[in-house]
Amino acid sequence: MTILDGKKIAADIRARVKAEVAALGRLPAGRHGTPGLGVVLVGTDPASHTYVRLKEKACAEVGIRFERTLIPAAAAQDDVLAAVRAYNDRADIDAVLVQLPLPDGMDENAVIAAMDPAKDVDGFHPDNLKRFLAGEPIVTPVIVNGLLQLIAATGIPLPGARAAVFANSTIFAEPLRVALEARGMHVTTSLGKNLADTAPTVAGADVVIVAVGKPAYVRAKDCKDGAVLIDVGTNWLPDGSYVGDVDAEGAEAKPGWLTPVPGGVGPVTVAALTENVVALNRARH
Ligand code: GUN
Repeated sequence: MTILDGKKIAADIRARVKAEVAALGRLPAGRHGTPGLGVVLVGTDPASHTYVRLKEKACAEVGIRFERTLIPAAAAQDDVLAAVRAYNDRADIDAVLVQLPLPDGMDENAVIAAMDPAKDVDGFHPDNLKRFLAGEPIVTPVIVNGLLQLIAATGIPLPGARAAVFANSTIFAEPLRVALEARGMHVTTSLGKNLADTAPTVAGADVVIVAVGKPAYVRAKDCKDGAVLIDVGTNWLPDGSYVGDVDAEGAEAKPGWLTPVPGGVGPVTVAALTENVVALNRARH
């Protein structure tokens, strides 16, 4: 399988977004302005802090103004809601992101619902999920945006192709299903990580997307020749490194494409975030 270079695809997306941000800056004063992203980060989870740093770096590169509100894990949920609402109310902030997961005891759904849907850059707000499922989104959810660009980079024809999606949550799986079906694909979704053997499910799939959080849940060698295998997994190891959900053994000998972990879905998703911030800026003005 050919390695799908997420770093390269992400760099191309950022270059495009950077040009768009520069073009917005040349519009008459008072229109658009510099796109701004506000991030709410709760607690000390090292992975979450790393992701937010990567988002900050990508924003800096393309010219998006980035702000973060850090909230201690022991804070009250009301403090998180207040931070979200403060960004909702700011005219110079186009996009709001709450880094997930939140610490135990906080209600993620309540926090997501507090976001202004017009600033919900991830596309997680229930109104935005409804809009997306109805085919009328403000923006494509970040993760879906990123995955579509990864698949597009392979050049495989999508109409009539079969996709197998493995995911933990419907908030991820449903928008993805809708987006792939809108491109003419037949989509099979498996929720949870409970399949004893994923081989029969992946055997007939042209595109396999796995996001369950279990190392080696899908084996590259079980995939069909020519398949596109997209690994969304991030499984942290005791040494501080991480692996995806795919066992790549045998991939070299097979035609097709595979996203590496790290260096595949992650960088592309972060780049897709910057694209969505600019899209929200445009939609608001
Ligand atoms: N944590 C892991 N993935 C994501 C994501 O896509 N968005 C947010 N807000 N938090 C995450």
